[in-house]
Amino acid sequence: MKIFTVLFVIYLSFINIHINNAEIDCTIYDNDFDAVNMNPFYARRYGGLMASNSSTYIIYINTGPNSIITEFNIAIDVNPSSSIYCLKGLQKLQLLHTNLTILPDIKNLQDLTSLIIKTDYGSIDQHLPPEFGQLISLSNLILSDIKNLEDLPDEIKYLINLQSLTLEKIPNFNKIPDESIGKLTKLNTLNLIDLPNLSNMPSTMINLQLLQQLEITKTNMTNIQIDILGSLKSLTITFNSILQTIQIQNLPLLQSLAILSNKNLTFLDIENLPSTTTISITNSAQLQSISFVNIPSIKSLDLSGCQLTIFPQSILTLKSLETLIMTSNQLSAIPLTLSTDLPNLRVLNLANNKLQGTIFQPPLVYIRELYLSNNSLTSMDGIGKHISLQRLELNRNQISSIPLEIMKLSSTLRQITMDYNLLNHIPYSMTNMVSLTGFSVRWNNIASQERQYLLKLFNQSPVQPQF
Ligand SMILES: *[C@@H]1O[C@H](CO)[C@@H](O)[C@H](O)[C@H]1NC(C)=O
Ligand SMILES: *[C@@H]1O[C@H](CO)[C@@H](O)[C@H](O)[C@H]1NC(C)=O
Ligand SMILES: *[C@@H]1O[C@H](CO)[C@@H](O)[C@H](O)[C@H]1NC(C)=O
Ligand SMILES: *[C@@H]1O[C@H](CO)[C@@H](O)[C@H](O)[C@H]1NC(C)=O
Ligand SMILES: *[C@@H]1O[C@H](CO)[C@@H](O)[C@H](O)[C@H]1NC(C)=O
Ligand SMILES: *[C@@H]1O[C@H](CO)[C@@H](O)[C@H](O)[C@H]1NC(C)=O
Repeated sequence: MKIFTVLFVIYLSFINIHINNAEIDCTIYDNDFDAVNMNPFYARRYGGLMASNSSTYIIYINTGPNSIITEFNIAIDVNPSSSIYCLKGLQKLQLLHTNLTILPDIKNLQDLTSLIIKTDYGSIDQHLPPEFGQLISLSNLILSDIKNLEDLPDEIKYLINLQSLTLEKIPNFNKIPDESIGKLTKLNTLNLIDLPNLSNMPSTMINLQLLQQLEITKTNMTNIQIDILGSLKSLTITFNSILQTIQIQNLPLLQSLAILSNKNLTFLDIENLPSTTTISITNSAQLQSISFVNIPSIKSLDLSGCQLTIFPQSILTLKSLETLIMTSNQLSAIPLTLSTDLPNLRVLNLANNKLQGTIFQPPLVYIRELYLSNNSLTSMDGIGKHISLQRLELNRNQISSIPLEIMKLSSTLRQITMDYNLLNHIPYSMTNMVSLTGFSVRWNNIASQERQYLLKLFNQSPVQPQF
């Protein structure tokens, strides 16, 4: 028993000695410059708070032996001295392409407000030391291109001044400690980018009521649910390759929402976004269900590249919509009530779809710009009823004639483009469409004799078609 106790005491003192040995002895440096000079490279020195465009530099304040180095920026492939951890007045530390590991001594840097580490060549361990939580002044943390790091320590909960956190290009990163991140209530920016092993959003997101900007890119998440974030203004969710469902709700200040290139996204539910003006949901070819509820301020919606075969009905509830872009889908029709349901819609882009037959009926009486290139339309009959039309694009369809009713638009229409169609004729009265500043009918079937005649005819007119 006694022997055991003795052994245990020896063991404890061994641990103690071991830890002591691991700590850097900062007393060997007379001052900050002395510590910096230990580095095997030159760091340009700047006095005061001047901005620098040199890549490797220090910024110091005061002169004489007690100068304090407040900023250290290293941007070359070097192996910095761990004496950096003795610069106790450091406020900003940026390490780009260095081999500096993070030691427990980082706790010395109590004034550090910004820490940026990019490209560590594997020098940082799988886990950060718990002492990382002692950086109580830290407001900006960026970790990017870090080879081995797998998580953040629970102790990050003490970083209560953190406002911006970016984790980027960390291939093995798989865990954000839930409880701890929920304590970072001053966070206004959170970027989770290129973290292919990260499968879950923190469950405590709701605590982050000052969060304004959130980006989730290239993660391994299958489901993302964002609900009740009172300050969020911008939300970006891109290139999450196995992401299947997204639910976004109750974000009173959200202005823009971008959900791009999530290839396996099948289900999307967006509700109660009173301030949102712009929504982009593009390149999600598996999208089957899409639902918009109560988005009263929306002006612009982009749903390009989603292989939609059916026009999502809930778009018709977006009464304030001005611009709707649905290029590169599989649409063969649009709802008959589009014009009455969306009276503010001015721009409609349906290029690269499967529209057939004649142009839309009933007419879109409020639309100013209509883009219908790359469809299979065969007729423009009824075009004269689209009375607000200023710009019409119909390249690459199969239209064989321009009906005379186009003259009904002669005071509004400014541009019409019909390259790659089957036209063999152009109404001669179009010479009188004096508002028309752009008129292109290249690559059609106009015989050369007819073309000669048209050239002569339009030569007399302010309208100058491109044949
Ligand atoms: C930044 O670079 C420019 C030109 O390379 C130089 O004239 C200027 O002095 C530099 N400024 C600082 C603070 O180093
Ligand atoms: C940093 O580590 C990388 C990878 O181990 C190595 O290639 C590089 O030479 C090291 N740089 C220095 C300055 O030691
Ligand atoms: C991260 O994912 C890769 C496969 O994509 C796997 O080989 C690796 O073991 C994972 N790392 C961790 C820490 O889970
Ligand atoms: C991604 O998540 C799936 C489960 O949703 C899991 O099977 C897979 O191992 C994860 N991949 C990585 C790289 O973590
Ligand atoms: C995601 O999509 C790719 C290709 O579209 C497919 O091979 C893969 O199985 C899908 N993964 C999941 C989890 O649905
Ligand atoms: C139409 O298709 C052509 C050829 O595939 C492509 O080059 C062009 O960008 C497409 N135009 C539009 C507006 O999508």
